[in-house]
Amino acid sequence: MNRSAPTALAHTWTFFRQWLKNPLGMAAISPSSRQLARQMMSELPRGARRVVELGGGTGVFTRALLDSGIAPADLLVLELNEELHQHLQRHFPNVQVACADARDLAEVASARGFGPDAPVDAVVSGLGLLSMPKATQQAILTAAFDCLQPQGRFVQFTYGPANPVAREVLEALDLNARRGSFTWWNVPPATVYVYSRRVSRAITPRSMR
Ligand SMILES: C[S@@+](CC[C@H](N)C(=O)[O-])C[C@H]1O[C@@H](n2cnc3c(N)ncnc32)[C@H](O)[C@@H]1O
Repeated sequence: MNRSAPTALAHTWTFFRQWLKNPLGMAAISPSSRQLARQMMSELPRGARRVVELGGGTGVFTRALLDSGIAPADLLVLELNEELHQHLQRHFPNVQVACADARDLAEVASARGFGPDAPVDAVVSGLGLLSMPKATQQAILTAAFDCLQPQGRFVQFTYGPANPVAREVLEALDLNARRGSFTWWNVPPATVYVYSRRVSRAITPRSMR
């Protein structure tokens, strides 16, 4: 994130206070690093124009998405925590930021013109998917892939040693998982994963599924 050290410190403090209140919900003790944000952005499809971000936090990925050329009006951010939602609205006044659960993405996106009728190129997730029950993972990925265009990607990071999405969920939704890059320069170190529809599904029209 291209910001001064005092601002970065203030954002870290904002994040940490929310972690103290709800460690499981936050799933991390501090915001992602700029290095991890760069690695997440490198997995956006070429020419990506419209993006949904899940779990915006203090906005590390939001800033990186704007810096990588996504127009504010083409970015929808969902954040469940009310204080962080307000923080994001303050710092990114031109981006659509919803205080909402990622499981409700389909409704939130439709209401804001990002729904299945106007699909997005990528969903960038900062959610702690690894610690979520399988049913929650499946609900979030179902909603995300309903918003994504056929070749769209779901870009995620994890602190764990393996793919954070349960195999059963990948099978149920017919998704491929690809391991991206790893960085030590994050607290804790993290690996990027990219999910996409398996080929047969990516070319099957919605009406025939
Ligand atoms: C690990 S933090 C990542 C924040 C930020 N993207 C970053 O990388 O620094 C996870 C964020 O997801 C939010 N969150 C957790 N569960 C959520 C849900 N079901 N829907 C939307 N946001 C959620 C948390 O409030 C928190 O801000």
